[in-house]
Amino acid sequence: MLADPTFRIDPALVPALVDVVGAPNVVTDPEVTASYAVDWTGRYRGSTPVVVRPGSTAEVVEVVHRCRSHAAALVPQGGNTGMVGGGVPLAGEVVCSLRRLDAVTEVDAVAGQLTAPSGVTLAGVQQAAAAAGWAYGVDLGGRDSATIGGNVATNAGGLRVLRYGDTRSQVLGVEAVLGTGAVVSHLGGLVKDNTGYPLHALLCGSEGTLGIVTAVRLRLVPPAPNRVVALLGLPGPGAAVRAAQELRRTLPSLSAAEFMLEGGVALVSRTLGLPQPLSRPHAAYLLVEAAGANDPMEALSEAVASLPEVEDAAVATEPGPASALFRYREGHTEAVNSMGPPHKLDVSFPPDVLAEMIERMPAVVAAVAPQSQVWLFGHVGDGNVHVNVTGVDPDDERVDEAVFRAVAEVGGSISAEHGIGTAKRQWLHLGRSQSELEAFAAIKRALDPDGILNPNVLVASG
Ligand code: FAD
Ligand code: MLT
Ligand code: ZN
Repeated sequence: MLADPTFRIDPALVPALVDVVGAPNVVTDPEVTASYAVDWTGRYRGSTPVVVRPGSTAEVVEVVHRCRSHAAALVPQGGNTGMVGGGVPLAGEVVCSLRRLDAVTEVDAVAGQLTAPSGVTLAGVQQAAAAAGWAYGVDLGGRDSATIGGNVATNAGGLRVLRYGDTRSQVLGVEAVLGTGAVVSHLGGLVKDNTGYPLHALLCGSEGTLGIVTAVRLRLVPPAPNRVVALLGLPGPGAAVRAAQELRRTLPSLSAAEFMLEGGVALVSRTLGLPQPLSRPHAAYLLVEAAGANDPMEALSEAVASLPEVEDAAVATEPGPASALFRYREGHTEAVNSMGPPHKLDVSFPPDVLAEMIERMPAVVAAVAPQSQVWLFGHVGDGNVHVNVTGVDPDDERVDEAVFRAVAEVGGSISAEHGIGTAKRQWLHLGRSQSELEAFAAIKRALDPDGILNPNVLVASG
């Protein structure tokens, strides 16, 4: 997906931005701006005349005002790990990088909450929580680069949704700069607070289209220091789904249930130079994590022993070997990318059709892209399947359409956790009614009346 080369900004905007953030934080050198203009997967490549890097909420306000008065559109960008082309300037927009907003994360250990500026990485939030004797409930493979502002903007899911919920479930309040330049800030952290519209919940998952998130108030969870990870070999995806669904009922300490297939595990092993994880390959794998204040080993062993279809298992109780088992699952993103820019179709299904739809996906893809390769993996414990397709031109969207239509037909979601971005905007109607889309457009007009924030993402501007 390439940039619109016809885009131009008013040249007076650059000195206006320098006035706000200083010359070192206004980048126009194409060799440097290029790295802000391509997404993590390499599928979405744009260009930008200028990257602006504000260092405070007040500077973000001024950046928005200057862009608004010069009629320039902005793409907010955090760690640029997003998967749906929402954080890169595909139409030559100004990039507003929030990474400098990473000063101090304040932990309130009594409340079990923290306030973080939006440029702090997810790993930084996790470390700040741990240092205060707490934990943060969200975790995902991009933790070292993804920012908490980006997590909020995409309502990131990840590995522990079945235990703690998605990012929105952790957020008690946000501070954000709207498209008007107005600041909305609600960071008090009251657990019970029914004072009108929950703007923080609306901003979660708004993908930079309504406001630029500058700070976040998060709830923390009690640490779960005793952790056991098991990798189960199973005869097929249906067996993996059934095992995950049963473990959700029988293993209260379950904190992750991730599935993989034989081809994906072999790809990860080849690409990352890892040995086969079990003594022989299995058609499907379920990676199970149980964690709590007490040792979950016995409960996990009993629960796994009662699963009729398990063919083999590897168990890890120490952090090193446990991470080594997770490497097979987290390594999928990198390994699939090594096959060329993938079409990443992040979908979810109702539980009763989950197994059947995972099994159907290769045929759905093959019907429109017979030469392609399909890689299926994901957070099966919460119904989320990542359908990755390689060997298809980045601009050839037939495979995206075929998968999204099949998903919508059975009541699934075309975006389980990555968002709509630019990638899925034309198919949003598959999951949302006309009335909902009109409500989205009205909200967009109210908070960003000139349509300067991510005008090509999620909803149509104007
Ligand atoms: P960016 O990529 O910079 O931006 C993403 C979107 O948010 C864009 O639309 C952008 O405009 C907007 N945005 C960014 N910052 C702000 C802000 N401060 N204010 C307003 N808008 C903003 N995602 C999951 O949900 N689950 C996973 O398991 C998962 N695993 C991943 C594993 C790997 C290896 C990688 C590379 C990515 C993974 N992701 C996952 C995707 C990604 O990490 C998340 O979407 C993340 O939340 C994006 O954060 P970011 O700071 O990189 O945002
Ligand atoms: C994951 O679950 O690994 C992430 O969502 C990233 C991806 O889809 O590759
Ligand atoms: Zn995921």
